[in-house]
Amino acid sequence: MNNIVSLVTGAGGEIGHSLIEALAERGIPILATDLRPLPPPIARRCYRVIVGDITEPELHGQLLQIGFRRVFHLAAVLSSQAEREPEAAHRVNVEGTLRLLQTTHRMAKRHGEPISFLFPSSIAVYGIPSLDEKRRAGRVREEQYLTPMTIYGANKLYCELLGLYYARFYRRLAPEPEAGWIDFRALRFPGLLSAFTVPTGGTSDYAPEMLHAAAQGKPYHCFVRPDTRIPFMAMPDAVHAMLLLAEAPTSALRSHVYNVTAFSASAEEIATEARRLFPQAHITFEPDPRRQAIVDTWPEALDDSAAQRDWGWAATHDWERTFSEYLASNIRRRYQRAIT
Ligand code: SER
Repeated sequence: MNNIVSLVTGAGGEIGHSLIEALAERGIPILATDLRPLPPPIARRCYRVIVGDITEPELHGQLLQIGFRRVFHLAAVLSSQAEREPEAAHRVNVEGTLRLLQTTHRMAKRHGEPISFLFPSSIAVYGIPSLDEKRRAGRVREEQYLTPMTIYGANKLYCELLGLYYARFYRRLAPEPEAGWIDFRALRFPGLLSAFTVPTGGTSDYAPEMLHAAAQGKPYHCFVRPDTRIPFMAMPDAVHAMLLLAEAPTSALRSHVYNVTAFSASAEEIATEARRLFPQAHITFEPDPRRQAIVDTWPEALDDSAAQRDWGWAATHDWERTFSEYLASNIRRRYQRAIT
């Protein structure tokens, strides 16, 4: 995929930081957009940066002018934040995605060839009705429990369908098989753990927040119960999954949406690990009923066998490698540098 200009929306967010590093290392030219200016080290990795709102036509005019051949659409309002302002979340998460699908289709038509559109979806698309059912369900497959309780989950699920609709509708209309259409591919991510950034507005945020607070010796009040269990993945694996799926041949893909996961853990297990790695940690549990209710409907584990089968997905960071190798050393270094 070298030399293919890749558009990254929401470039200043959690996944954006790591994805841009990875694309830049592969020599891929990056056209980045975000609502706010990017931090200079990230901006330097991009060949063009546009600051603007993904829902505004002006931004799309600029994107069309510059041009791109692949899309990583990361811009979104995450689940807890979205519950606080559902209409605003819908505007960004759904209308922003719809506009970008339209822009991508125009771009694909102009080039007369398909453009891959990578869409990070989420465990939030699932909605399991009770804790008993959640424990019984175990590893959830892509077609199960698609009754999200949050606006964010509903937005993501709808955008998966919207992407599929665009892919099919415009492919049907394309004059020849290879003419411009959208090659839409979605990944349902579990909670993500990054050593370099802390997410904002998500509900799986308790895990990264706990670790980053522990490394700084700051007290942390975890907003879910100790027995809360959901799947997680280290950020390098999230980026690895996006790139692997982006590069998979269309003929290998039997679906347009895939679960990916690495391991599942309870909040208590993560707190124990945080205390082991950072003995100055001070973690207490003070569940917030609204945020607890959200994670209680998310699966405790994901079945990612379809991704393994179709495009050779396999997580490279298990629990041990995520914590002892990736998180411990990088988080330690990050805050040591901040202190000294
Ligand atoms: N990590 C996201 C959130 O908590 C889920 O995709 O909102």
